[in-house]
Amino acid sequence: MFNTFKRKQDEPATIFSKKWIDDWKAAINSSDEYKAHGAGWNAPLILKVTDSHKFLNNPDAIGFYLDLKAGVCDELRYASAKDEPNADAILSAVAETWIKMIESGKDPLMMLMKGKLKLEKGSMVLLSTQTKAAKALLDAAPAVEKIKESANNAYTEKSNGSSGYTEHTSFVSTTRGIDFDSFPMKLFQKAKVFGIWNPADISFEKDREDWKKLTAEEKKIIIHLSALFMAGEEAVTLDLLPLIRVIANEKRIEEEIFLTSFLWEEAKHTEFFSRFVYKVMEQKPDFESFHTHFYKILFYQKLPSALQALENDSSPASQLRASGTYNMIVEGTLAETGYEAYYRMLAENNILPGMQEGIIKLKQDESRHIAYGIYLINRLLSENPDLIELFELELETLLTDATNIIHEIFEPYEVVPFGLKKEWFLDFAIKQFQNRLEKLNLRV
Ligand SMILES: [Fe+2]
Ligand SMILES: [Fe+2]
Repeated sequence: MFNTFKRKQDEPATIFSKKWIDDWKAAINSSDEYKAHGAGWNAPLILKVTDSHKFLNNPDAIGFYLDLKAGVCDELRYASAKDEPNADAILSAVAETWIKMIESGKDPLMMLMKGKLKLEKGSMVLLSTQTKAAKALLDAAPAVEKIKESANNAYTEKSNGSSGYTEHTSFVSTTRGIDFDSFPMKLFQKAKVFGIWNPADISFEKDREDWKKLTAEEKKIIIHLSALFMAGEEAVTLDLLPLIRVIANEKRIEEEIFLTSFLWEEAKHTEFFSRFVYKVMEQKPDFESFHTHFYKILFYQKLPSALQALENDSSPASQLRASGTYNMIVEGTLAETGYEAYYRMLAENNILPGMQEGIIKLKQDESRHIAYGIYLINRLLSENPDLIELFELELETLLTDATNIIHEIFEPYEVVPFGLKKEWFLDFAIKQFQNRLEKLNLRV
């Protein structure tokens, strides 16, 4: 029943034993990572082991009590039920889950998303600002070797290299025929009805009048969000091609047919925002000053890196990384949250009707793109179940990137105009992400 874990120096300590706990505390206090990321955590925390009777030698123990102050762990001991009122946050899971998190370096936020870890007490928003600290705490726990590095390497190991020229041996249309009942073809039918809208037909006259009446701070938040949407739409337009190329090489004609509408729509979204700026704003603002650190990591680096990797490596693992980044995080978590919040903000304040009209159309397009992404990921995971763990690891990091971007958006404002709330953004983004995990059967 008891696992023994390899300790960094001397003999192994039994998992969850008193000695193991003492080792853990010492490791936290000598962890540079925890010092760096835990500086803002000044509250007691309980990590509850819901089936603790199986693992803890202490009958009163419900888990672990950690008193954390400014990057230091003052106290780490077994927690009892009496400690619960004193803890600011209580995270609970079965012993097996805690062990898995310790062993594999799994991100606590991702485990919360998947429902394997529960937040019994405390704020999800607060926790999302402390994910690196929480991870550093678990990383410090005496554990067996981390599997994360070897898992990441699998991306390169799975590479099947460049395929070069392949002649056609037959065609779907002239053999089995196009499958009109397939999901991509159904999406394509929708795209031809709902995706046919022209940004040039949208009137921005009232928007221009509204714009002149806005305060400087109100203009700033609209310029700020526009700067993120504009570059985001341009990035997804620029970066989609390698995925289309892979799907075409695999002769998946129904999927490629749908993807022709996908890229066309992204191009229109890019056009739409630029038209708005040109028609409504008196002068072009400095948009790129709003592209801050975490935004750049995702949109300048990780998105093009994941998609361009397909040019040399079209393996299922590489496709999963691309679609996870593009469809699950950029579109399915960030864009969907941003557009929903932006639309509500404009509608509630009855301003910028042209922008509202475009966002309604654009949201419909995005829902098809995300639906395709989920279809693709489902197909890849059902054909390659061995890649599930690797894909989850990738999502863990990307989800943190996404929440970091949300925190970053709100940093420049003491009071955010139009009553925009960071908590709403985070809550909506997390719910969307969880919905997608559910559709992928990755949530318990
Ligand atoms: Fe888009
Ligand atoms: Fe999209």
